[in-house]
Amino acid sequence: MTADELLERLASLHPDARDAEYERLFSVVDPRKHSETPGEGMTAYVPSHVAYIARALVDAAVGTGDVFIDLGSGLGKVTTFARLCSDATSVRGIEYQADLIARCPKVDGVTYVHGDAREVPLADGTVFFLFTPFVGELRRAVFERLHEVARHHGITVCTVAFSVEEDWLVPRDPESLWFHCYDSRVEGVASRTPRRTEFDSRLKRIAASEP
Ligand SMILES: C[S@@+](CC[C@H](N)C(=O)[O-])C[C@H]1O[C@@H](n2cnc3c(N)ncnc32)[C@H](O)[C@@H]1O
Repeated sequence: MTADELLERLASLHPDARDAEYERLFSVVDPRKHSETPGEGMTAYVPSHVAYIARALVDAAVGTGDVFIDLGSGLGKVTTFARLCSDATSVRGIEYQADLIARCPKVDGVTYVHGDAREVPLADGTVFFLFTPFVGELRRAVFERLHEVARHHGITVCTVAFSVEEDWLVPRDPESLWFHCYDSRVEGVASRTPRRTEFDSRLKRIAASEP
């Protein structure tokens, strides 16, 4: 399926119907429905709303040169959409549960790394997406790693269903409730340059239909 076909299909639907259609098209539904938490501090698999994924691509202005990484990528709903609907140079999912990676849609240009976000390489990432994959100490440890990445180059971090207060991350919209977009600010390191200025109107419409 092309980006054009996907955007046309989703944009033609009522916002409430978009997720079910997208999950049907790419078989992103977890048959276990209520999966167990895979480990201490880790959350169970639940797919993001497509509106938040679209919003991340638009707000972070993802484009050529970006390395887009979904931390806790589950069944690949975010990575698949990011690959099809952006010009990111690289799209990667990091997932602790190998059986979820095995069931991800096979999409050219998307790679998956099986492992713990505390340990796998993240150094080349420029845009990170997190839909509450972990909490507590684990989250702290991963944000320490992201801070380390930001000491080398500017990054953008998109979070869904949680916000963070880090003195090195500047929120785009402090009033936002569910979706947050932050840019790193580290002395002596240039901020990440938005890679794209124009977006498909259908992508923007999907992004604007926050659940
Ligand atoms: C709420 S789901 C989000 C799935 C996907 N990002 C999306 O938005 O559709 C969280 C995912 O994070 C994974 N996860 C939890 N802790 C992890 C860790 N330490 N390293 C990698 N993945 C992790 C879980 O297995 C689960 O699939």
